[in-house]
Amino acid sequence: MENIPDITSDMLDGLRKLNINSVYQLAVQIPSELAFKVSDAFIDVESAAKLIGNARKILTENEILSNEFSTADDMLEKRNKISRYSTGSSNFDTFLDGGFETRAITEIAGEFGSGKSQICQALCAAAITLMKNDRLVENATQKPPESIIFVDTENTFRANRIHQIAEQNNLDPEDILKRIYHCNIYSSEQLEALIDDLPNFIEQYNSKLVIIDSFISLHRAEFSGRGTLVERQQRLGRMLNNLRRYAEVYNLAVVITNQVVSYSDGSSGFDYMKAAGGNIVAHGSTYRIFLRKSGKNRVAIMEDSPCQPYQRVKFTITESGIQDASSYKTQESDSAW
Ligand code: GTP
Ligand code: MG
Repeated sequence: MENIPDITSDMLDGLRKLNINSVYQLAVQIPSELAFKVSDAFIDVESAAKLIGNARKILTENEILSNEFSTADDMLEKRNKISRYSTGSSNFDTFLDGGFETRAITEIAGEFGSGKSQICQALCAAAITLMKNDRLVENATQKPPESIIFVDTENTFRANRIHQIAEQNNLDPEDILKRIYHCNIYSSEQLEALIDDLPNFIEQYNSKLVIIDSFISLHRAEFSGRGTLVERQQRLGRMLNNLRRYAEVYNLAVVITNQVVSYSDGSSGFDYMKAAGGNIVAHGSTYRIFLRKSGKNRVAIMEDSPCQPYQRVKFTITESGIQDASSYKTQESDSAW
């Protein structure tokens, strides 16, 4: 950080007190929030914007971020550098154009038991095998093997389930479990504070995938009345904005799960389900996948994507994790398709 133009030792001290210790961590800050948090270190909004701009410039020079304007062919080249993390089901991976994408937020919405947490856990086992396993030496600092951060707000993460999925797929369960950093969260404030602090953990653990299961449940439970809706939406929006910047700066895949709300169509009299969180969550995520139960199988629907058509895929949840529906024999009739 000492190499950032215009940075003074007072500013460095002020930033370090906030646990901002790297160019990456500075680059993901918001000027007004940073100025507010370090008011005693002579950083006003203008100088905060300048520092953040300089940090982003350093990352741009190192080809980690793009220029303000890039030509479309440069953008295409950059897109070829993104990584994709697979799920274990080849049909599901094809549906995702190869897997869960870095530099993007993928939202998985669906009712209870639709398979959101199972996909997250199957993804853990499959994704680790695509990440670098050796200790990297970069600029004289040693980085640990690449890893996953799993934020669990419903206490449904089960290490033994990941162990089982790994074993069933002839993967090394010990190596996989060592590289998943799990954290239980019990309140919306704790979740927001963790997301503010996430850059520290992403760097410390060299994480390439962050999973938040569930992104919305705590805010939904704590901000339940109509009068608190605006505040809830603002808080959700702020978290998503942060996650989007982290995804870009750290070339990170972010996967969040979302719940559903039911609404009735007055004209037809039918009840329907849609993802919770309103427009803020709908616009905040890059991809939105909606899950439905279909007998013993599940159907995933690509509801929103910047580059894929509306499409769907059928999969099943088994001891091995997430599998193609056709590769797993079931007695159940397929009438729901
Ligand atoms: P909520 O968190 O309640 O909103 O639901 P969710 O969408 O996260 O559901 P989850 O991913 O936990 O899916 C639960 C379903 O997965 C169960 O109802 C089971 O049908 C299935 N399941 C879980 N573990 C196994 C397993 O080991 N084998 C098989 N065959 N199915 C499993
Ligand atoms: Mg769940």
